[in-house]
Amino acid sequence: MGRIFICTTCNRYAAPPMREMTPGERLARAVEVAAGGSIAVRMVECLNTCPNPCAAALREPGKTVIRFGGLVPEDTQALIEAAEIYAQSPDGELSPTALPGRLHAKVAGRVTLGVSEMARG
Ligand code: FES
Repeated sequence: MGRIFICTTCNRYAAPPMREMTPGERLARAVEVAAGGSIAVRMVECLNTCPNPCAAALREPGKTVIRFGGLVPEDTQALIEAAEIYAQSPDGELSPTALPGRLHAKVAGRVTLGVSEMARG
């Protein structure tokens, strides 16, 4: 089963009024509902992509971590597809073009075996 981590503290620079969900929480809930249990959604606080909210990451032990930034609710289905593609990958070594099209430009970084590489552009 695929799994995705979504930052619920995004956007930390524009806190919502009391009792309103953050954009990150709304994105996480939208992905959870749309996935219908087909992937696991883990809500976390901060994925170090704060200046470019909302953020999410694909990660599993022994695999390259892929982080996304600039996510909006319209990315919900693409995130679910990406989590499924990532789960099928043996090592997480996926180029942006292996992911759904609307996520190509939203890859914010990758971490491979202790080596961090920030995406360009
Ligand atoms: S607050 Fe969301 S990535 Fe830092």
